[in-house]
Order: sequence, then structure tokens, then C-alpha cells
Amino acid sequence: MKTGVMDPELRKELQHLDGVKAEWDVTMAGHTSLRVGGPVSCLLRPLNLAGLQTAVQVLNQNNYPYFILGRGTNLLVQDAGIKAVAISLEEGFSQVERNDGKVKAGAGLRLSRLLRFCLQQNLSGLEFIAGIPGSVGGALRMNAGTPAGEMADVCEAAHLVLADGALARLDRTRLPFSYRRLDLPPAAVVVGAEFLLTVSSREHMRQRIRSLLKARKDKQPWRLPSAGSVFKNPPGDFAGRLIEAVGLKGVRIGDAQISPKHANFIVNRGQARARDILALIHLAQQKVSQEFGVHLELEIEVVGNHHNGS
Ligand code: EPU
Repeated sequence: MKTGVMDPELRKELQHLDGVKAEWDVTMAGHTSLRVGGPVSCLLRPLNLAGLQTAVQVLNQNNYPYFILGRGTNLLVQDAGIKAVAISLEEGFSQVERNDGKVKAGAGLRLSRLLRFCLQQNLSGLEFIAGIPGSVGGALRMNAGTPAGEMADVCEAAHLVLADGALARLDRTRLPFSYRRLDLPPAAVVVGAEFLLTVSSREHMRQRIRSLLKARKDKQPWRLPSAGSVFKNPPGDFAGRLIEAVGLKGVRIGDAQISPKHANFIVNRGQARARDILALIHLAQQKVSQEFGVHLELEIEVVGNHHNGS
């Protein structure tokens, strides 16, 4: 990544891209489920494919860092913000359509909307996403899932915009999914996905969704802002179990707290800052490593610049 200081010429170019809305110095606290995080240099909202292709091309040509802001549900942005462009696909890429047993969805579509569509169409296979926040694109990149299923099980193909702006369709044989991960070409942007589903009874699907939502509500904090599971489960064990076992459940730094309900969640009790959350992350990693010799790997993505001093 280059330094990210934006040249006035680039700023002008981004401001006037066809089919792209630009907003400057946008605070990420308003765009992440944790409700923390400083500003990005610019938030771009491409309204169509051509707009996104040009934006990606221009940013790559200028070596200016960018990232795709899904629904911000798995993201921790540092308090000092990040000298990068965030690209939101919410406005231009939220379409969904059915073609026989296949559903094609835009990357910006909310998972809850996708599931509602499948239910209306009596198409089964994606029930496991019930209660998972976030967008189709984010879910694909992360291979989002739970023990009830994951994206890799149902994803037939991904549609991408590559670094040079070209389009690509990768079918499932070319999608290297692994645990909470999908390896894609560097700088590729997921713009849509195809899911292969099976016709089923709507009542059956409803029951399954209800029971998944109930289990989630019983076990996880849902009233307070969070980013879901903070750490991946280490092989053969559970991050939540380990963090509870080292006595950190309920521990608080500032307004950030390791959830008293589920130790693999960090909740924002009001005015938490990214550095409070990071301090809890480091504490959990340190204690679990000392007591169990297990390294807890982050599931959430941390981006941004550190504070100098303060
Ligand atoms: N546990 C504890 N203490 C805790 C929390 C959990 O001892 O504070 C123990 C539980 O008793 C259980 C085990 O840890 O034996 C696993 O807990 P749980 O059933 O809650 O599942 P999880 O592995 O922590 C996973 C996903 C969640 C998903 C749930 C439910 C990961 C990292 N997390 O959680 O996904 O909602 O299963 O299906 O795979 C997410 O990824 O953001 C997420 C919320």
C-alpha cells in the first residue's frame, strides 16, 4: 500500500466520475456495526458496473489504496481513520433475480433480503444465513457461515471486477474457499454471486430459519453493537470457550466489553473506541496463548492508521 496522500488531480477525477457518487472524509463509525472508527479519505458509491470499473481502474492506475465496504459488519476501523477510498456497493449492486434453481444476487444486497427472496421463491439452501448480518459480497469474501452451513456449500459462481477494470466470472471449481476465507486475485472486487438452490416447502424453510434465529438470540448478544465473532475458532476448539476459561468474560476497557453472554463477541457499550477494542483483542490473545498455547486468529478485519501518541 502506498502512503495514500491524495493528489488534488485524483480527487478531482474521483469527484467527477460518471455513475459514481463521491463523499469526502466520511467517518466509519456511522458505517460499521461496531459503531467505531475514524474517517476514510473518500466514500465512493458506484451506481452501475461501468462506474465501478472506471473507479477501480483510476484508483489502481494512481496506486491509491481502496477497500470494499460491505455492510461494515465484520470490520474494525482504527480511530485515526484510514487514508484509503472505501467503495460501497449498496446502491448500485443490490439486485436479485431467479433463473430456474439459480439465484443471482448483487454484492451489495443485504443477506436478510437475499434470504427473504429465497423464501418467497421456495428455494432452499441459504437458510444458514438467517441472522448473519452483512452483504452478499462480504459474505462471499469471508466464506461466511456457521456450523449450519457456509457460502462454499451453495455458491455456483462469483462475478468480479479485476484490478484493470475487466470483468470475470469464476465458477465454483475456480473458487478456493476455506474456513472463513475465499482467495481471490489481489484487488479483485466481488460484484455478484450465483447460488444453486433446491425447490422446497416454504413452511419447512421457515421453521429452520426460526430455530436458527432463536439459537442465535439465546447464545449471542444482539442488543449492543458488535462485529459478530471476533476470532476464528481454532482447530478442534472454540474461541468463546477459551476466552471464558482464562477469565475474561465481561472484562471491560473503556466502553468496550468482552460480552458477558458470549466471550467471542466484543460489544460497544456506548462510546467505545477502536483502541479499547484492540486492547481487549490483544489481552484475549495474550492470555489464551499463555494458558493454552493457542493463537487466536482474528476473524474480523482491522484496517486503518494508528494514532500517534494521544
Ligand atoms: N462457549 C463458552 N463460552 C462462551 C461462548 C461459547 O464456553 O462465552 C462454548 C459453548 O458452550 C460451545 C462452544 O463454545 O460449546 C461454541 O459456542 P457457540 O455454539 O456459541 O458457537 P461459536 O463457535 O462460538 C459459531 C460461529 C458464529 C455462529 C455460531 C452459531 C465462528 C467463529 N462463529 O460460533 O458465527 O453464529 O457458531 O451457529 O465460527 C460470526 O462468524 O460472526 C458468527 C457469529
